[in-house]
Amino acid sequence: QVIKYYEVVDSTNEKAKALAREGASEGTLVIADQQSAGKGRLGRNWNSPAGTGIWMSLILKPEILPQYASQLTLVAGLCMCEAIREVTGLDATIKWPNDIVVNGKKVCGILTEMSAEMERINYIVLGIGVNVNHKAFPEELPFATSLALEGKQDYERASLIKAFLERFEKDYKHYKVDPHLTAILSRYEAHCITLGKTVKIISGNESFTAEAKEITIDGNLIVKTETGEEKLIHSGEVSVR
Ligand code: BTN
Repeated sequence: QVIKYYEVVDSTNEKAKALAREGASEGTLVIADQQSAGKGRLGRNWNSPAGTGIWMSLILKPEILPQYASQLTLVAGLCMCEAIREVTGLDATIKWPNDIVVNGKKVCGILTEMSAEMERINYIVLGIGVNVNHKAFPEELPFATSLALEGKQDYERASLIKAFLERFEKDYKHYKVDPHLTAILSRYEAHCITLGKTVKIISGNESFTAEAKEITIDGNLIVKTETGEEKLIHSGEVSVR
C-alpha cells in the first residue's frame, strides 16, 4: 500500500482525486496533518487544524456497479467506529449513515466521492476525518467533540489509522465480492444509535419526523412516518437529526 503524507493540503479528497486521475493504484492513502479547505458532507466545511486530527482519503477502484458505492461509506464508518472503541475504550456509536458519535457529539465524519462512467467506476475516494486530540472547538461547532476531550487523554493517531486499516481491508475484500452490507449488518446495528429513535429527516427544503426502523442491506434507512407510512431514505441526500 502506498501512503502519501503531506503537511498541508487543501483537502485530502481533492489531492486523492487528482492522484487517482493520474493513475494512482487502489489502496493509495493520502494523509495530511492539516487541511486548509477540508470538505464536509452537503457542501459544508470541515474544521481541520494542524496536529490534532486524522485527515485522510483512501483511493479505491472496485469492479462493482456505481449504485453500490454508497454502501462503502457505511463499511468504513463501522470500521472506524470499531477502531476507536478498540484503541480508546470510548463508547463510540454510529449515527446513520456514517457519523461517529461519542457522548452525543460527533468525532468523525466520512465524505465519499466517486468518478464513474456509464456502468463503470473509475475511482472512489473515501475521505475520513477524525477529531483526535483537539482541546477545543470553534463556537459555531457545538455538536463537535474530540476523542481527547471525551477520554481526557491524548491518543496516537497512527494507532487509530492502523486499527482502521486492518479492519477495513478485511471487510472491503468481502464487499468487492458482494457489495451489500449482508456480512456486517449485525455489527453495524450493534453500534447504530439511530435505530428505534424518532429522527428528523431533512432533504433539501423538506423535512419530517419519523421513527427509524431498520437498515437495509443496501445501507438505506426504513422509517415510519407519523401517519404510519413506511419510507425508504437513501443515505446520500439527507441530514438526520
Ligand atoms: C462530514 O461532513 O461528516 C464528512 C467530513 C469528512 C472530512 C474528511 S477529512 C479528510 C477528507 N478530506 C476532506 O476534505 N474531507 C474528508
